[in-house]
Amino acid sequence: MALSTKLFQRSSSTAVFGARSMSWWRSVQPAPKDPILGVTEAFLADPSPNKVNVGVGAYRDDNGKPVVLECVREAERRVAGKLNMEYLPMGGSVKMVEETLKLAYGETSEFLKDKRIAAVQSLSGTGACRLFADFQKRFRPDSNIYIPVPTWANHHNIWRDAQVPQRTFHYYHPETKGLDFAGLIDDIKNAPSGSFFLLHACAHNPTGVDPSEEQWKEISYEIKGKGHFAFFDMAYQGFASGDPERDAKAIRIFLKDGHLIGISQSYAKNMGLYGQRVGCLSLLCEDEKQAVAVKSQLQQLARPMYSNPPVHGPLIVSTILGDPDLKNLWLREVKGMADRIIGMRTALRENLEKLGSPISWEHITNQIGMFCYSGMTPEQVDRLTNEFHIYLTRNGRISMAGVTTGNVGYLANAIHEVTKSA
Ligand code: LMR
Repeated sequence: MALSTKLFQRSSSTAVFGARSMSWWRSVQPAPKDPILGVTEAFLADPSPNKVNVGVGAYRDDNGKPVVLECVREAERRVAGKLNMEYLPMGGSVKMVEETLKLAYGETSEFLKDKRIAAVQSLSGTGACRLFADFQKRFRPDSNIYIPVPTWANHHNIWRDAQVPQRTFHYYHPETKGLDFAGLIDDIKNAPSGSFFLLHACAHNPTGVDPSEEQWKEISYEIKGKGHFAFFDMAYQGFASGDPERDAKAIRIFLKDGHLIGISQSYAKNMGLYGQRVGCLSLLCEDEKQAVAVKSQLQQLARPMYSNPPVHGPLIVSTILGDPDLKNLWLREVKGMADRIIGMRTALRENLEKLGSPISWEHITNQIGMFCYSGMTPEQVDRLTNEFHIYLTRNGRISMAGVTTGNVGYLANAIHEVTKSA
C-alpha cells in the first residue's frame, strides 16, 4: 500500500475516533450542589464584608478563624523530620487505631484485651461509614439500613452509592424540637428483624438532639430484642458534653447490653484535623478469629479503592493520645471548644429574646453539640442568605461553631427579621 494511502487511512480513522471521543460525556449533566459543602462555595463567592458562614460544621475561634489545636502544633513539632513517606499497611496505623478504640470502647475494655475488635484506619468518618456500607452490602446483601429523619445529608449518599436499600426511622419532632422517642421506638419494633440501624453516638447532626441515658438504655433494649445491628457514627465525640469519655455513654450502654456493634470515628472535629482525613472503622466480633477475618475483608475492600490510608494525620493523633501530657492538653482544648459553643448558644438566644421575638428559642440552649436546628424554613433561610449574606443549610441548621461575639448580634437581628411575622 502506498504511504500516502496509509497516512490517509490513519488520519481518517483518527478523525472517527476523535469525533467519538468528543461524545463520550455528552449525556453528563452537572451534579446538584452538595447541600452542605455547596454553602461554603456560595459563601466564598460572596464579596460582602458582612457575610457570615454558619453552614459547614467546622470549628472557628471567637474571631471566626479556623483553629489548629495547641496539642496538634506540639505533636507536629515532635514528629517533624522523623516521618518517612512509606506506605502504611492497608489497615492503617496500628498505634493510632489502638488509641482510637480506647476512646470509644474504654481505656480498659475487655474487648480490646480479647482482640475481638476488627478495626482499620479510615478516611475520616465519611470513609469509615462508606467502608462499612460496602462491607454490609458484601456480607449482608439483603439487609436494609435504617437512617434517622433527619440525618447528615451525606449518610444518604454513602449508603446509596454502596447500593444498600435505605429505610428511615423517626427521630426528631418538629413541634417539640426534641426527640420523637415514641416514633423511634415504634420504628425499631416494626423493622424486620436483623435490620441495620444508623445511630449518631452523640451531638446528633443536624438536630443537636440526643436521647437521654435512660432513653439510650431503652433503645438498646429494643434493638437487641429485635436482633437489629447498631452502627454508630461518632463524628463529634467530645462536642456534646466537652468530655469524650462522657460522650461515649451510648456506646458503653450497648456494649454492656451485649450488642456486637460497629463504630465510625473521626478526628475531624474533636482534634480539628478536618483535611487530614483521620478516622477509624471498627466492628466488635464474637471472638478473635472472627475479628481477624472481618479485618482482612475490610482491608480487601480498601485496597482497590485507595490501597492504604494517609500517614501524617494518624501520626499526629497517636503522638497526642500516646503521651499523657499531650492527651490532657487535648482534653482541655476539646472542652474549650465545646464551652465556647455553649456560650454562643446562650448569647444567640438572649439576643433574640431581647429583640422581642415572638418565637420560643429555648431549643437553642437545649440542643447540644455543634449544631442548632433552628426550625427556620428553607424560604426563611433563603432570605437570610439573600438579604443578610448569612450562609447556612436550607434545613435551617446553624453551625454554632461559626457564631462569634462579633457576629451574634447581627445574626440574631437577621433571624428575627425573617421569622417575626411567621
Ligand atoms: C457538616 O455536617 O457540616 C460536616 O460534617 C461537614 C461535612 O462534610 O458535611
